[in-house]
Amino acid sequence: MSIERVLEGFATAFGRPADGVWSAPGRVNLIGEHTDYNEGFVLPFAIDHRTWVAVGLRPDRTIRVASASVDEVGTSTLDEVGPGAVAGWSAYPFGTVWGLGQVMSAGGASLDAARGFDAYFVSDVPTGAGLSSSAALECSLAVALNDEWALALSGPDLVRATHLAENDVVGAPTGILDQSASLLSEEDAALFLDCRTGESRTVSLGLVEAGLTILVIDTRVTHAHADGGYASRRAGCERAAAALGVKALRDVAVADLEAARGRMDEEAYLRMRHIVTENQRVLDTVAVLDATGAAGIGDLMVASHVSQRDDFEVSVPELDVAVDTSVAAGALGARLTGGGFGGSAIALVPDDLVGEVTAQVTAAFAEHGFKEPKIFAVTPSAGARRDR
Ligand code: GLA
Repeated sequence: MSIERVLEGFATAFGRPADGVWSAPGRVNLIGEHTDYNEGFVLPFAIDHRTWVAVGLRPDRTIRVASASVDEVGTSTLDEVGPGAVAGWSAYPFGTVWGLGQVMSAGGASLDAARGFDAYFVSDVPTGAGLSSSAALECSLAVALNDEWALALSGPDLVRATHLAENDVVGAPTGILDQSASLLSEEDAALFLDCRTGESRTVSLGLVEAGLTILVIDTRVTHAHADGGYASRRAGCERAAAALGVKALRDVAVADLEAARGRMDEEAYLRMRHIVTENQRVLDTVAVLDATGAAGIGDLMVASHVSQRDDFEVSVPELDVAVDTSVAAGALGARLTGGGFGGSAIALVPDDLVGEVTAQVTAAFAEHGFKEPKIFAVTPSAGARRDR
């Protein structure tokens, strides 16, 4: 992507030059699915697909947002961007402005003196593919405004602001995984994040040295987390935590599972079993990465997929075929990544088998009468930043 294209788009849309260009990446989650809103552990990394935004401040409090991929230009003011005030695509950028205001207020400050802005977005993060295109958009604007308004907010503050945008303005009841990955990731590493304390550290992946590639298999089954499935999984987890009298499923250990089985409905139990075992798999994955590297994590990825498929019930046939076929074709491991109900799987593949895995998954999709998948390698990349 050329920065020039983003600057040109801004100039064409708004008839003046921008102040600068910022960007934020999409993400895949290596392991740790649906654990974020259970105050558990996640291990995502940012991918080499980003959303860029050119921003120019205005003399008034008007805000205007335009995008290379959407026809509508959203217009509002800094004072009218809260929950319920915006719908459609503009909810992402406007919600981000509102989220920043909320975080500033919590710190005893405000955006009362801030100037309005024009913003123009260009993205190569596929939408609806489970790769956090919405977080990339929110986070690109959050880092831009943090600079433009000299807010001096930290990475975790920006996570809070963009997460508020997603939950309260867009209306998707998601956790902090996506925004954390987009804002806090570093090159060639995964981000090990404790969603209870907010503490994080990077874990080196060393894929190139190990001769390994991570493939994304976009099933092209689209999903949206503002739909009911995600919320109902979340409700199942909350039921389980309430039945055990714990604050969150983070507080349940694998050894506690059997004894807890009779204390709640079976569906809540299965949801809980996924979360509790998944938290342990994240810890195990980090331990293996630290000790011996990525070649050893394949079985944990497969176990995570099986748990998402059977206990959490967020897979779809396309994802199961993607995972099973990749592994049969030589992938060390594979799993559904992101919220599920469609979207993408990832596969950890020795470099020399990338062609074979791609060919076999594509053939298997054709045999099943599925849409042709989009299969591409991703590189663990740097988080949100200023580009110009
Ligand atoms: C979506 C949500 C995240 C997380 C994942 C599942 O990506 O946005 O907060 O819950 O699903 O791990």
